[in-house]
Amino acid sequence: MHLGRSTFGHPDNQGRVLSREEVMEWLNSWVLNPRLQLHMLQVGHLMGCWALEKAGTSESDAWRWEMAGILHDADWDQWPDTHCQKIVEALEEKQIDPEIIRAIASHGHVHFGVEPVTDMDKMLYAFDELSGFIHAYSLMRPGGYADMDIKGVKKRLKDKAFAAGVSREDISDACNRANISLDDLIAFIIPRQAAKTAALSV
Ligand SMILES: [Fe+2]
Repeated sequence: MHLGRSTFGHPDNQGRVLSREEVMEWLNSWVLNPRLQLHMLQVGHLMGCWALEKAGTSESDAWRWEMAGILHDADWDQWPDTHCQKIVEALEEKQIDPEIIRAIASHGHVHFGVEPVTDMDKMLYAFDELSGFIHAYSLMRPGGYADMDIKGVKKRLKDKAFAAGVSREDISDACNRANISLDDLIAFIIPRQAAKTAALSV
């Protein structure tokens, strides 16, 4: 659904975040599907890694990125008809940092009608589909993430029958907007997502 607006949250709330414990509690109460939870935690981890390693943020600022990643699909499981609107309004009610809310509101600009503008917006959009695609690819490989390479992921992307629900157009649009090559984005995701997924399955 289109959100019908382009400003989110209140500037006075800049820097306001929830604790990791509060975010995990929220995740567990709204998202009942463990596969979706895993996806959200994977995207959150990638966002946090990107903030620290590429955007050069502090640890506390990286948590803002990670929080946007973890919560981006929080309303998809139980309220698909109002996906994005519900989480955006809940975050506004909790007076959360407007940048986090904006990033979540713009993670699917075709669906929600909100253009990704900030680096946080663009990276959430870029990680979302490709992270899910790479995880789907890991599940069909005997070794999972072991020895996965860029070439293998790109080969699967060309196979339109594989993970057909993942929009290849969105992936290339997101790379263009974030000004990153597909190869670099895949290379960033594989080792970090592999490590996070292994840590979560212990
Ligand atoms: Fe997602």
